[in-house]
Amino acid sequence: MKALRIRELRKSYGDFQALRGINLEVDEGEVLALLGPNGAGKSTLIRILAEGLAYDSGEITIFGEPVSKRTARLIGYVPQESIAYDLLTVEENLRFYADIYDAPVKGIPKLIKEFSLPCGRKVRELSGGMLRKLNLAIALLYKPRILILDEPSIGLDVPSRRELWNVIRGFKEKGQTVLIATHYMEEAETLADRVAVMNEGRIIAKGTPEELKKLARNKSIIHVKGLLRGVESIIKEFKAIERENSLRIQVEDARRLLPGIVETLVKAGSEIRSIRIEEPTLEDVFLKLTGRGLE
Ligand SMILES: Nc1ncnc2c1ncn2[C@@H]1O[C@H](COP(=O)(O)OP(=O)(O)O)[C@@H](O)[C@H]1O
Ligand SMILES: [Mg+2]
Repeated sequence: MKALRIRELRKSYGDFQALRGINLEVDEGEVLALLGPNGAGKSTLIRILAEGLAYDSGEITIFGEPVSKRTARLIGYVPQESIAYDLLTVEENLRFYADIYDAPVKGIPKLIKEFSLPCGRKVRELSGGMLRKLNLAIALLYKPRILILDEPSIGLDVPSRRELWNVIRGFKEKGQTVLIATHYMEEAETLADRVAVMNEGRIIAKGTPEELKKLARNKSIIHVKGLLRGVESIIKEFKAIERENSLRIQVEDARRLLPGIVETLVKAGSEIRSIRIEEPTLEDVFLKLTGRGLE
């Protein structure tokens, strides 16, 4: 059974087309990552599924049923912004949402234990990681058949992010269907069975992380680190992603092109610390498909 089936979904805000014909299926038990930069349309898609945001045209079924109040109960939704109340404690928030959702309260102690939540602590005193886990617990109150997370690790420090990833992996092991929107390729690569790459309102590629990386495999990636100058001319000539003190350059033939690239950088006054030729990542796939990086 397909957990989710989306056909030719379109959505505009005024004259602006945010979704331009989305086709996507999610199998039951699968973790699917929707990977795309800010503005790709990920939240719009998720809000249509989870919040009932109106759309222009297309078809959506959730476990075979058209979207409705009934299917809303099949979805556990963790929006990008927390929905917990600052002045209530963790437990009070869970009770409050159980009441609103008409969900059984007897599952609450188990959720508190499972996520090691400090039940008596006020929400405004929680760390970012704890707050995200509380929002996850809220989404799980009525045992949803599909869990939808919008940018779950945004704003979290690295240890909290890893902890959250472990929680999501735990769901996967239990056979929970999960849809995650993210602009972190590492998140998509680490968690997802399949990735749908999204850009400017369209899905431009779909597959397992391995399948997608094959798309860029005939390219090599030259990864240069250091205090780099003169990157503009390289970005103009090749597809390249610049980050703080690092440059990833996609080329057909690294061995032939490397000396020229190094010369350009050194002549411009760069202090190179390391140069490596690497396997493509999902971000390189994205770069190959769109000509730009993910952030
Ligand atoms: N309520 C809105 N009104 C007008 N434009 C919007 C609204 N929400 C989102 N957009 C625009 O739609 C595009 C997709 O946004 P969004 O779905 O939030 O993307 P993502 O979640 O991938 O960053 C962006 O260009 C954004 O500015
Ligand atoms: Mg978003």
